[in-house]
Amino acid sequence: MAETFAVKLEERCYYPDPRCKAAAWTPDYTRAYSEFLHDPDGFWDQVARELDWFEPWDRVKEWNYPYAKWFVNGRLNIAYNCLDRHVTGGRRDKPAIIWHAESGEQQVLTYEALHHEVMRFANGLSSLGVGKGERVCIYMPLVPEQIVAMLACARLGAVHSVVFGGFGADALAMRINDADAKVLVTADVGYRRGKTIPLREIVNDALTRTPCVEKTVVLRREIPAADLDPAREVDYAELVARAAPDCPAVSMDSEDPLFILYTSGSTGAPKGIVHTCGGYMVGTYYTARHDFDIKETDVLWCTADPGWITGHSYIVYGPLAVGTTVVIAEGTPDYPDPGAYWQLVQDLGVTIFYTAPTAIRMFMRYGAEWPAKYDLSSLRVLGSVGEPLNPEAFEWYYHAIGGGRCPIVDTWWQTETGMHMITTMIGEPMRPGFAGKPIPGAVVDVVDRRGNPVPPGTGGFLVIKEPWPSMLRTVHGNDERYRTYWNTIPGCYTAGDLAVKDEEGYIMVLGRADDLIVVAGHNIGTAEVESALVSHEAVAEAAVIGKPDALKGNVIKAFVTLRVGATPGDGLVDELTRHVKKSLGPVAVPAEIEFMDRLPKTRSGKIMRRVLKARELGMDPGDISTLEE
Ligand code: PRX
Repeated sequence: MAETFAVKLEERCYYPDPRCKAAAWTPDYTRAYSEFLHDPDGFWDQVARELDWFEPWDRVKEWNYPYAKWFVNGRLNIAYNCLDRHVTGGRRDKPAIIWHAESGEQQVLTYEALHHEVMRFANGLSSLGVGKGERVCIYMPLVPEQIVAMLACARLGAVHSVVFGGFGADALAMRINDADAKVLVTADVGYRRGKTIPLREIVNDALTRTPCVEKTVVLRREIPAADLDPAREVDYAELVARAAPDCPAVSMDSEDPLFILYTSGSTGAPKGIVHTCGGYMVGTYYTARHDFDIKETDVLWCTADPGWITGHSYIVYGPLAVGTTVVIAEGTPDYPDPGAYWQLVQDLGVTIFYTAPTAIRMFMRYGAEWPAKYDLSSLRVLGSVGEPLNPEAFEWYYHAIGGGRCPIVDTWWQTETGMHMITTMIGEPMRPGFAGKPIPGAVVDVVDRRGNPVPPGTGGFLVIKEPWPSMLRTVHGNDERYRTYWNTIPGCYTAGDLAVKDEEGYIMVLGRADDLIVVAGHNIGTAEVESALVSHEAVAEAAVIGKPDALKGNVIKAFVTLRVGATPGDGLVDELTRHVKKSLGPVAVPAEIEFMDRLPKTRSGKIMRRVLKARELGMDPGDISTLEE
């Protein structure tokens, strides 16, 4: 891409009701931010003191570029902070999780009940030989047991690797092997749009190439229950029933790993992002409480799945560390009808609603008459995450859902950052199209390739200039890839996004600078989709690009050359589509496949995706001097 470029900025601004500012946890953003800048360690020290530690830390931070340690020598357990702290601190009977199933079934787990479930399941896992530091893969639908399994691992000090239940067998196998997981926790099926998703079949396929897995725990939901293979499968309910009720929380060093979560890389295999116990707990606790302004009576619904970082940080760890009530719903936003979500907001009195722009755009399409059928007056705060919230979607969200009353917190962050880094704090003026400013605790800027800040109105690279508590510590098994984040632009963590600032410091995120495609808020690596396509016998080479889409932000378009003897046509398109779906899951399936005689390449043989993209979008391909004949 060009060094820097000019961007036309949106100028609309919304002023929030002064009452929500006055009552917010951060009533004065400017002051909070300057207090943080004045004494960053003191700022985080204060936050960390609001949580329970088994041993205090010696130093808030140790920064040895590009390696950080936070709350050095402090000892804690994050599950203890999410459960025991509340059970003994007056929230015993408060609902922790309200689960809603597509069938309409509901289940409420109070903090006490969740605490019990977690302790029993932790004992169950330990009876299978899971201990501190061991990896457990969790591949489940959106059910309370998924969260129980995560917290049980955290309680034991085992490292969880949650794989989104929508991934296919190859994607699952790769993640299991990379993390070297000993135990897999899964379910027989998930339910979606009235259909059953055969998770156990996908698991059994994956397990043919994952020698590290010793046991699989299966939550059986279907009736009659499927027979399990006693040599390698354990029934979830039986495991819990025979486990002892009490399980002390293991004392963890601040820097012990808490989880691995895979995110697509721009080249090569997905990266296992490693987060640690202490800093991650403090960062997610602080941002959940302050950015969403969580009060004691709030009911928070984050519509993500715990299989993504949004679910890890803002369904599970952040909100539960704060002690709030969390809603989870299995299924899709428009099933059985496009009013399904709004009915749930009304029935459960949801006050804080956090979703993705792709969902908002889908609701826009169905029309404002759907939310208008329900009483949404309980809503107080609306959040957005995953991709740019375009001004039209902002306006619709603000008026049709928020009734012109609720502040919108558009939160920019990543799997790697673990917590929100940019938003418009409650009570601050909102600018549609802009995520906002760095939160107190984060130092974010827009710079050129050499790391110099660019002037307002000029696009550049989004970077983070100082370490933060919940930053990734490494890429599992590949520290070299970790260092790349910090040595691409001198002195900075490079997020891989392009952005622009306005005169007042509001940041607009423009999209990815690299070969990642954000489809419906999910990061897809071009390399992963291309290798899935090439693994089909008919395909010689493949190149994929992102194509703007009104609903999903982007869709994937694949250009494919065929091996001699293969015949292009609709039949092959269908077959390749099925092939990618089976391998990577529905999120990575190309919306379009085009057959080509050859792909544009550099003289050194690299596929030039930007040439394909320019042709597809009718744009100037830029410098093509390296294009081969
Ligand atoms: O491109 C940015 C986009 O999502 C990327 C991070 O993806 P992932 O690690 O999967 O985490 C998604 C949920 C935190 C970013 O590099 N992104 C995320 N939030 C926003 C966003 N783009 C614009 N505005 C946002 N609020």
